[in-house]
Amino acid sequence: MAKGKKAVFLLSGVFSSPHPASGGELPTEAVAALGGLRASYDLFLAAAGGDGPDGGVGGPLAAGGDVFSGLCPLPAGAAGDLSRRLGEAIRSLGVRTEGSFFVADDPRLVEAAEGAGLCGLYILTPRGFRLLGDLAPDVFVFHDLPDAVRWILDHPEGPRSVSAVVRRGAAAIRRGGLVAFPTETVYGLGADALNPTAVARIFEVKRRPLHDPLIVHVADPAEVAALVTEIPPAARRLMDRFWPGPLTLVLPKRETVPDIVTAGHGTVAVRMPANRWARELIALAETPVAAPSANAFGRTSPTTARHVDEQLHGLYDEIIDGGACRVGIESTVLALAGGRTVVLRPGGLAPEEIREVTGEVELPVPRGAGGASPGMLASHYAPRTPLFLVDDARPYGDRPDVGLLLFRDPPGPVRGQVAVLSPKGDLREAAANLYQALRRLDRLGLRLIVAERVPPHGLGVAINDRLSRAKSGDTILNS
Ligand code: TXA
Ligand code: MG
Repeated sequence: MAKGKKAVFLLSGVFSSPHPASGGELPTEAVAALGGLRASYDLFLAAAGGDGPDGGVGGPLAAGGDVFSGLCPLPAGAAGDLSRRLGEAIRSLGVRTEGSFFVADDPRLVEAAEGAGLCGLYILTPRGFRLLGDLAPDVFVFHDLPDAVRWILDHPEGPRSVSAVVRRGAAAIRRGGLVAFPTETVYGLGADALNPTAVARIFEVKRRPLHDPLIVHVADPAEVAALVTEIPPAARRLMDRFWPGPLTLVLPKRETVPDIVTAGHGTVAVRMPANRWARELIALAETPVAAPSANAFGRTSPTTARHVDEQLHGLYDEIIDGGACRVGIESTVLALAGGRTVVLRPGGLAPEEIREVTGEVELPVPRGAGGASPGMLASHYAPRTPLFLVDDARPYGDRPDVGLLLFRDPPGPVRGQVAVLSPKGDLREAAANLYQALRRLDRLGLRLIVAERVPPHGLGVAINDRLSRAKSGDTILNS
């Protein structure tokens, strides 16, 4: 048994700046979440300066715990230097690093914490989103502090706890079972892609029609050759550039891929996800993994393990909780045939980026027109509350039974139930918050949700696509 205190360090900013997509009632909830940690951990409220004379810990201090000023003031230097200072502080506090955590919304602090031997967790506050590009790929991210606290309680050994679930998950896949797992886009519900009976269970559990084909996930681009008869040069270039990542390629299939996976089509959709745990699952299972998004058919896609559990509780053999999905919207599905590059479903990779590699890219026919990809069904991704899509949602504010889904911070105050996808109007941030915000508004028992369209470029193409499929109508009756 290792000696020393088990500790959770919490950067003060993760209490005080909840993301507006999460609704804004976070501080109380965040303080309450710490109650659960107090029984097993010493809590250190880490001030990094900046947020007022007490380093920003004044409010959170009410939650209990000690002020930790070992990082205060935050030096401008490299993470290595920070790690050393943190290491010294950890020794003098008598903390044992194994099984201890550091929760922050600043990549430098997470990196320093990991360097000092702690498990670093990252919160997607507005600052967290702004700096997300600097964060190492395998760090766990969470929408808010309560989500991170729940994860700590479920995973006392951090990544080692997750690895244990991944091993059980891989064994379940080999036995023909179902495993819910994180990817960088949304959570997937996976089965052995080469086992038709296992794949049939996915359709059953999701209540998904059999004519809607699944994406086959691989851990390495080399695995694609066993699934398809041909990899055109453009597909190869796209794989080299964007894999692992939110891009799915539709290619001519081999006999080995069961018809149930492809819904009888002569093509198969393949993708290599960026999430470390997804790839470890596939590699340990030693088989490609067919997986749709882990939601009931037609409903909002899950971007956390809790979302999966809310809809599919008890219907899978294992669930790997890898925190929140960083991209937050499904992969871009691309067909490559006869020298054309056609987007079948816009998603987490922007058309502009694809065009850089292929020269041309054809965007999908607008909704309602049918088309090649069944995921393009007109009604999909829908909350239970009726949703209406408009260009400017602000006029519908101030009504207690109407929720607003806004793209960015409005110029003046708007009261009522409001979710802001990205305060400063960043489309990546908006995509990452979309499903979480839709679910939150959906839980409030509102009469309707009024969502506004986002700028139609970059990831905005995919966001507008999902909103238009989630909506129940175009006109809002005056009442
Ligand atoms: O990001 C994602 O793509 C997530 C994660 C889990 O990887 N998966 C996902 O799967 O969104 P799903 O089943 O919800 O959507 C798969 C999409 C559907 O639009 C489906 O019609 C299309 O891919 N698709 C699959 N195979 C196809 C094929 N052979 N031809 C055309 N479209 C295909
Ligand atoms: Mg789906």
